[in-house]
Amino acid sequence: MSDQTGPVLVVDFGAQYAQLIARRVREANAYSELVANDLSAAEYAAKNPSGIIFSGGPASVNVEGAPEIDPGVYDLGVPILGICYGAQLIAKQRGGVVDRFEAGEYGRTDLTVGGDGGELLGGLPPQQTVWMSHFDCITQAPPGATVTASTANAPVAAFESELVCGVQYHPEVSHTPHGQAVIERWLARSGIDTSWTMANIIDEQVEAIRAQVGEGRAICGLSGGVDSAVAAALVHKAIGSQLTCVYVDTGLMRKNESDQVVETFQKSQGIELIHVRAADDFFDKLAGLSEPEEKRKAIGETFIRVFERASGGIEDAAFLVQGTLYSDVVESGGKHASTIKSHHNVGGLPEDMQFELVEPLRALFKDEVRRVGTELGLPDEIVWRQPFPGPGLGVRIIGEVTPDKVFVLQEADHIVREVLREAGLEREIFQSFAVLPDIRSVGVMGDERTYGYPIIVRAVTSEDVMTADWARIPYDVLEMISNRVINEVDGVNRVAYDITSKPPGTIEWE
Ligand code: XMP
Repeated sequence: MSDQTGPVLVVDFGAQYAQLIARRVREANAYSELVANDLSAAEYAAKNPSGIIFSGGPASVNVEGAPEIDPGVYDLGVPILGICYGAQLIAKQRGGVVDRFEAGEYGRTDLTVGGDGGELLGGLPPQQTVWMSHFDCITQAPPGATVTASTANAPVAAFESELVCGVQYHPEVSHTPHGQAVIERWLARSGIDTSWTMANIIDEQVEAIRAQVGEGRAICGLSGGVDSAVAAALVHKAIGSQLTCVYVDTGLMRKNESDQVVETFQKSQGIELIHVRAADDFFDKLAGLSEPEEKRKAIGETFIRVFERASGGIEDAAFLVQGTLYSDVVESGGKHASTIKSHHNVGGLPEDMQFELVEPLRALFKDEVRRVGTELGLPDEIVWRQPFPGPGLGVRIIGEVTPDKVFVLQEADHIVREVLREAGLEREIFQSFAVLPDIRSVGVMGDERTYGYPIIVRAVTSEDVMTADWARIPYDVLEMISNRVINEVDGVNRVAYDITSKPPGTIEWE
């Protein structure tokens, strides 16, 4: 039973599943944090954990140099749950046996619950499907632990003792139907506080922001994206008129996007907003440029200049609000430092700006940020917005960017997204948009020969941005997109669908 009040620590042993475990724990309303596996027991203890979960990992516990954990953690009196590699590590360090068996198990596997199933599995179906990914297996549980489940090639697929439990399978993935129940039961048997909710987070952050900013002034660059929007709304809740937002309209935004930002922030939320109409500055700088990196650089530099000019007018602003998320904060393999991934969001603000950062979303995953946004009253169009690159439509117009081309692309892009939304596909697609290439082709409309631009439709599914696949959009939806774009957008006479995954392609065309 945990008598600590701190987070559930999810110790990362290198599996892609560690973040997912942390999210599942939070979905069960217990606060969790990811930590590296090489801290000392005293360092884990200093975080005052209410429970510790060891994640899976790709190594074999029996291989020289495989990651271990300071055995002192077993003496902290904190409940521990091992998952996959984590379970094997517990077995190995606590006197059980991990060995090669006849075969490994990968993917959906039948699990047989033994005896009464103990506290984690009791009352759940005696035969159930679980998701496995292991070659080694635990052949003997640690002394004093009860074996509560097995599979064909994992004689100890689950075990539990007073403070230490382990499951060979992955309860955190959706392919394990009763997995979340096991996580919730472990939290309950461990006496871990499960009252963490989005409302708590908002209250806590409001307090923290007030404490940090005091009577000071803060500014926030709004990009129109989810993260800066939620960060701004949260900071506004905390310090009201001490916050000024700056929205730079680059002229490269999607159709109606600027109006929507002004409507949401200035009118509905009552946030003080400086709306900088800077399209001319951007088009001037982009004139004659067609090389992708030159275009990006021109947009980035112009953005900084315009932002500085606008924010310079806000005297005594000492704080800059940023929508940094937990996934941007990488607890580096090293011991203590957490470094921020150099992601290219927010248009990239100047490094020499002398601001203290306010980052109220640092502890949150994207889906949690969306929930906070909804709780704060932001509209679905903002909360569920797909990622949008800082350089905007500038990287979706191949070749030189001109106001005319932006207009064509805005109209086509609007149709693409509207049709997908009406087909109910918007949320399952990670990003969907139109691209305007720098070529024209011959067509015929009515009795007339046309010579117009094609529009390329790009729609991808992705979990993590690093890899993506083209979305299998139904033909009739593609047909609707094609018909509407050609009928409604002047100068476009052809529509193509991009069927390239990432890798080898990238999501954007430039
Ligand atoms: P790629 O095209 O590299 O894109 O597969 C990965 C993700 O990053 C976004 N992206 C950008 N975001 N500035 C940004 O703020 C950029 O220059 C930029 N380039 C790509 C892209 O939309 C996708 O979500």
